[in-house]
Amino acid sequence: MQLVFASNNKNKIKEIQQLIPQTIQILSLEDIGCFIDIPETADTIEGNAILKADYVTQNYGYPCFADDSGLEIDALNGEPGVYSARYAGSHRSDNDNIDRVLQKLQHETNRKANFKTVICLNQDGKQYLFTGIVNGTILKEKIGDQGFGYDPIFKAEGFSETFAQLSLEKKAEISHRGIAVRQLIEFLSSK
Ligand code: IMP
Repeated sequence: MQLVFASNNKNKIKEIQQLIPQTIQILSLEDIGCFIDIPETADTIEGNAILKADYVTQNYGYPCFADDSGLEIDALNGEPGVYSARYAGSHRSDNDNIDRVLQKLQHETNRKANFKTVICLNQDGKQYLFTGIVNGTILKEKIGDQGFGYDPIFKAEGFSETFAQLSLEKKAEISHRGIAVRQLIEFLSSK
């Protein structure tokens, strides 16, 4: 069976292809001739995952899954959430986004936050959602230089290191993305 992953991130695609049953061939957006940036206009993380998967299924007729992730901070009512990638503006860097978060939390004692990934799978006329959440806290300064995004200021519950201090393998074991991907793989393997 062929299954589209609504992404052009070659690393993500390779990683998933290695984990799923051999009978499923993962195709990228490029593989199916889709060269546009699917607009992510929903106002929730779930909404954007659904929007991307539906775009492919409706326009190309393939079974498809899509993912969307973000950082949700309790004291900011769930911000940056769906706007995580562009919190400081659409052409700003990870560092700018982190600075905006730290500035907004400057006088805040409630530092609770979570990372969330939602994967939407469209298969056989049905839609399935898989959600991965990791709870933690936002530090007052950046620590560590691995990873990406908000990793240097996020410490998962029960850990003394930030996400930016963990190896790729360790992060995948506990991260929101790792949790959601394992749910997807378990589902696909059980069919
Ligand atoms: P995406 O949907 O996986 O592209 O994630 C959207 C944005 O959320 C990223 O650009 C990051 O700013 C943030 N984000 C998602 N996952 C992570 C993570 O594992 N570490 C740090 N930041 C993340």
